[in-house]
Amino acid sequence: MSPSKQNSNHVPVLLEETMEALAVQPGGRYVDCTVGSGGHARAILERSSPGGQLLGIDADPTAIKAAQKNLEAYKNSVLLVNDNFVNLQATCIKYDFFPVHGILLDLGLSSMQLNGSRRGFSFQHDAHLDMRFNPEQEVTAADIVNTSSEAELVRIIRTYGEEGHGRQIARLIVKERPITSTLHLARIVEKAVGRRTGKIHPATKTFQAIRIAVNLELENLERALKQAIELLGFEGRLVVISYHSLEDRIVKRFMQQEARGCICPAGTPVCVCGHKPRLKLIRRHVVRPSEDEIRFNPRCRSAKLRAATRMVTRDDCLAADEMEILWAETEARAWRRPALLRKLQMVFAMA
Ligand SMILES: C[S@@+](CC[C@H](N)C(=O)[O-])C[C@H]1O[C@@H](n2cnc3c(N)ncnc32)[C@H](O)[C@@H]1O
Repeated sequence: MSPSKQNSNHVPVLLEETMEALAVQPGGRYVDCTVGSGGHARAILERSSPGGQLLGIDADPTAIKAAQKNLEAYKNSVLLVNDNFVNLQATCIKYDFFPVHGILLDLGLSSMQLNGSRRGFSFQHDAHLDMRFNPEQEVTAADIVNTSSEAELVRIIRTYGEEGHGRQIARLIVKERPITSTLHLARIVEKAVGRRTGKIHPATKTFQAIRIAVNLELENLERALKQAIELLGFEGRLVVISYHSLEDRIVKRFMQQEARGCICPAGTPVCVCGHKPRLKLIRRHVVRPSEDEIRFNPRCRSAKLRAATRMVTRDDCLAADEMEILWAETEARAWRRPALLRKLQMVFAMA
């Protein structure tokens, strides 16, 4: 059994591939934006030792507790913060944790949340329709299901679930309201769709859609990616594991856009956008789990990993004043020497 699995029933997905994409190195500084029960975090800490540091973020306080337990052996190298990764930049600034060597987002939910019979993420257990990653957040799945207009439900189910039967499902939901339990909702969807297709339960897409709407998952992902790029040092790595096509499309577009030079509309005679590439794609194609991994952990079957490296462009430097140019260049040179970097940071902070 891999050390990262020992204290958790969530099996970290694409573990080796993630470590390779992050290029984890001793003494490095990493942010795990979705620390969960700490599977990937533990492997990062193992490989960045000695001297490595990790900031682990999770919106779910239960995940933070599990990570604390799982990462006990590394307690002097890890800082765990219960927050949404939409506040990534503010969190890193608050804890003076930047620039960093790598940022990981392993999206979606953990086995712990899916199996948690009271969380309402799954239709395998009857539970209150909750689906919040953070139980302090106001809006629950029951609020969305019971108070949205029919048109809004159609939009949510079609857009976030990519469900072709959105109209029939929304109509029946509105007719049968109030709906407060997972099994009640699953039965309504089954009735609306009218059949079981293959191995996938007909409520799967609707549950995904409502969960995405409750947690603003796509909006938060877009906002976090923009912040991540600002926090990466020279040659820092951004690694994202997604589990459905909506997430993957956002990650793919973001990385491709940031890896391009000019982004003026096709046919513009002279570049007016001035856009310069800030990322370099590590691989052109996504990394998928092997058949062996899928056999061992069937939940990982839809995982897709994308990774990119932060480039420091001349423009990054030119945009700054003289002191900052010197700082950016010195920082880049001192990158592999954290002690020198810390000394320089102190000098610049005093200047
Ligand atoms: C797939 S699990 C991560 C598992 C983790 N990599 C491990 O190896 O244990 C995803 C985690 O991301 C958290 N999460 C999802 N969206 C989040 C957000 N916007 N902000 C912070 N955490 C989030 C969930 O609560 C969940 O614990």
